[in-house]
Amino acid sequence: MTDSSAPVSSIEKEFGVPIPGAILPEDQWAKTALKKVPEGLLNWAELFGRVAPVLIDVGCGNGRSMLTSAVARPEMNHLGIDILPVVIRYATRRGNQRGLANTRWAVIGGREFLLNHVEAGSVAEIHCYHPQPYYRQDQVSLRLITPEFLLLIHRALAPGGRVVLQTDHPGYWKYMLSVVSLFFEFSERQMPWPNAVKGITRREIIARRQGLTIFRGDGTARTDLILEDAMALAESLPLPTFNADRRLQALDQIEREISPSGNSSGRTHSRRGGAQKSRQRKRGPRRTS
Ligand SMILES: C[S@@+](CC[C@H](N)C(=O)[O-])C[C@H]1O[C@@H](n2cnc3c(N)ncnc32)[C@H](O)[C@@H]1O
Repeated sequence: MTDSSAPVSSIEKEFGVPIPGAILPEDQWAKTALKKVPEGLLNWAELFGRVAPVLIDVGCGNGRSMLTSAVARPEMNHLGIDILPVVIRYATRRGNQRGLANTRWAVIGGREFLLNHVEAGSVAEIHCYHPQPYYRQDQVSLRLITPEFLLLIHRALAPGGRVVLQTDHPGYWKYMLSVVSLFFEFSERQMPWPNAVKGITRREIIARRQGLTIFRGDGTARTDLILEDAMALAESLPLPTFNADRRLQALDQIEREISPSGNSSGRTHSRRGGAQKSRQRKRGPRRTS
């Protein structure tokens, strides 16, 4: 027998693509807000209130990829981090509205987080989707995927731990492929991730609508690489000084002009640019690239 007066849960869409998980009645929302990352190394069991494998999504943006995983894998603890407070606000709200008590979200940089807050060998999976390629010469040093960052991922992962990388930038991908397999048994994936065939993240959905190729892959931490050797390796490898193709900058502009909530009609500019600029400008704060 069904109770017809019970509130109906609802599915939210972003660019016409459902965001996993249904929005529950308010009395079933989770309360996961994390005001500040605690000092020092994190105790995962304390942070999540239970012992379970931990997944970290670095540069999680508005949280779509992590929500997908948190819904599909309730047995895992999920932590999304990003330097932008506004996207973490949206992601936290979405996780809570879906009753996802297995999620936490924090405003912090990926490198700083892995270096100062993550105990070696304590994480099951680290995902990084569409790190910003940064186009201006004075911002090149902000690129997230560096040998040092890969070393920090390798150090954080438990034996057999998994790394997932994805970008729509050919230059960045070429660089990633040139260094990543030194730390990980890594394979490129041609097809979309099976659990999100229309796009695992907001950025992937926008990029695909612009006709861009998505580069993705995953792998496991090399077990034959001890910390000392990994450190020496990281020091010997080149930094990501690739020449970012400025033609691709248009996509960043589009991404900034749409609210990070993603609650738009889903129409973006055509490849020749144009539509919707003024309406989108009224929405949401701008994001930096
Ligand atoms: C292009 S967006 C991609 C967001 C999301 N992963 C997606 O695919 O839709 C890059 C994100 O990385 C964040 N970011 C940039 N530098 C970062 C850093 N050092 N640590 C963590 N996040 C960072 C930005 O704020 C932004 O939300």
